[in-house]
Amino acid sequence: MRTTEANIQIRNFHPTDLPYLYKICLKTADSGKDATQLYKDPFLVGQYFAAPYANFEPDLTFILTLNEKPYGYILGTSDTINYYKWLNKYWLPILRKRYKIPEQNDKTKDANIIRLIHNESYLKNELSDYPAHLHINLLPEPQGMGMGKKLIYTFITKLKQLHIIGLHLEVGKTNTGAIQFYERVGFKVIKEYDKSIAYGMKL
Ligand SMILES: CC(C)(COP(=O)(O)OP(=O)(O)OC[C@H]1O[C@@H](n2cnc3c(N)ncnc32)[C@H](O)[C@@H]1OP(=O)(O)O)[C@@H](O)C(=O)NCCC(=O)NCCS
Repeated sequence: MRTTEANIQIRNFHPTDLPYLYKICLKTADSGKDATQLYKDPFLVGQYFAAPYANFEPDLTFILTLNEKPYGYILGTSDTINYYKWLNKYWLPILRKRYKIPEQNDKTKDANIIRLIHNESYLKNELSDYPAHLHINLLPEPQGMGMGKKLIYTFITKLKQLHIIGLHLEVGKTNTGAIQFYERVGFKVIKEYDKSIAYGMKL
């Protein structure tokens, strides 16, 4: 079947989507491209950047399906401070036991995520006016059809219902496609870091 809008849908998260979150996360983790070859452990990126959000705030996790199968998602939290408290207390401790702290000279992609897992996650000061944050990832098939924009709209609509005042995200400087997308849908630069940029939107 052709990839037309007719067989594409956005729906709420269901627990059976969980393996697809890990898969889609990995397949878009190299500046938006497939990172399968870059990681020894295929679950690592999803353990930090996808699955915990669907556990913490499933009502804010939306799935893009193509012929009923997940091909993309938007997920995040309405309250980054509380999310990181939960992440540090309930989600990361068991992973810290599984993945040992890497050697300082270990520059592999796996090591970078394992360091994130071992560090305490926190909301940066400059982002405090933007309490919600998001991650959006689509496999190549449904990209460029306006579905990313629709997912952002769905996410923002839910945040507004919850009376949330602002939303932020962080994107790697090498992900130029995503940067253009975020600017197109209305995000403004909050701060530039060494390798990434924080974008925000007041709601
Ligand atoms: C980035 C991403 C979410 C965009 O979703 P999408 O469905 O492809 O984008 P849309 O079709 O909704 O595009 C919306 C607008 O952004 C623009 N846009 C989207 N991708 C773009 C790109 N790569 N380059 C330039 N502009 C782009 C579109 O031209 C469109 O503009 P318009 O409103 O004037 O028509 C999606 O391509 C994706 O998931 N990429 C891989 C994973 C990724 O990089 N995620 C972000 C991690 S921080």
